[in-house]
Amino acid sequence: MSKPRLFSTHALFEEPRRRLAENFEVEYWDSDERPPRLEVLKRVACKDALICLLTEKVDRELLDAAGPNLRIVANVAVGYDNIDVPACTQRNVAVTNTPGVLDETTADFTWTLLMAVARRLVEGDRLARSGAWRQWNLDQLCGTDVWGKTLGIIGFGRIGRAVARRAAGFRMRVIYNSTMRAPPDVERELNAEFLPRDQVLEQSDFLSLHVPLRAETRGLIGPAELAKMKRTAFLINTTRGPVVQEAALVAALEQGTIAGAALDVFEREPLISEGLRRDNVVLAPHLGSASVETRTRMSMIAVENAIAIFGGKRPPTILNPEVLRQQYNT
Ligand code: DGY
Repeated sequence: MSKPRLFSTHALFEEPRRRLAENFEVEYWDSDERPPRLEVLKRVACKDALICLLTEKVDRELLDAAGPNLRIVANVAVGYDNIDVPACTQRNVAVTNTPGVLDETTADFTWTLLMAVARRLVEGDRLARSGAWRQWNLDQLCGTDVWGKTLGIIGFGRIGRAVARRAAGFRMRVIYNSTMRAPPDVERELNAEFLPRDQVLEQSDFLSLHVPLRAETRGLIGPAELAKMKRTAFLINTTRGPVVQEAALVAALEQGTIAGAALDVFEREPLISEGLRRDNVVLAPHLGSASVETRTRMSMIAVENAIAIFGGKRPPTILNPEVLRQQYNT
């Protein structure tokens, strides 16, 4: 029997490749560059399965290009704002993401950014390697303390909580706001206090964003929210760029409304607003989950989801399980 045909928009890693080869006739996009849109549309044609990254927009046009054989879109990311899930559901195409395996790695990176901006690491590195460092000096590149400060978290899901857990070592006060308040045992364990969003904005020394990108979170942090923050506060964003109104952030940084920012994500990736290229802003190219272990695990989840659907099983991290009834005619 012939194997189902799968297009992967990335070469993935060794282990997931091996697993895919056992189960599919696979076509990979092997280049280091992301595939141009037209190339994706061409290669997805007549495929039974698609493994894609957050850089690929899965919309009606792509589903049309794929044709009626497509049964699954397996996103190698936990965020799935790149996918029109209702459009997939309408065509009985399963959609899966990769929750649970990147929380700790992303939380580590959130702290990497937080520490880097607070202690001016990037400026220090630049000075150290420039050859222009002449002497130690008492007030040289003095940053701000992290320990003992207030960490505010907006969005208290798995990643927000993993970020909060790390604050204990820094003897910080942790405050948070989320659409759903965490159960009392979680608040106790993380020593985290639920507050209305405005109070989190007003009281945080470091404000870290962990909401998914949805219609209601797009532009969540704009001029009004930034104006509520302390002038000494830092904004950390490792979720999705459009959660912050980038122009408003640039204005806030220019006007000294807040002290600085550390950003892993941007409104129009890979473009970065010119106004963000400042000493008090640490910039990273969307690296939150970028460890070999975690990216391999994420790829494996996508692969196992694809294998499950052709084996008549429920893909472990399916987002639209309602399509299964149609697919399996149950
Ligand atoms: C995700 O998974 O949504 C991240 O942004 C990439 O790790």
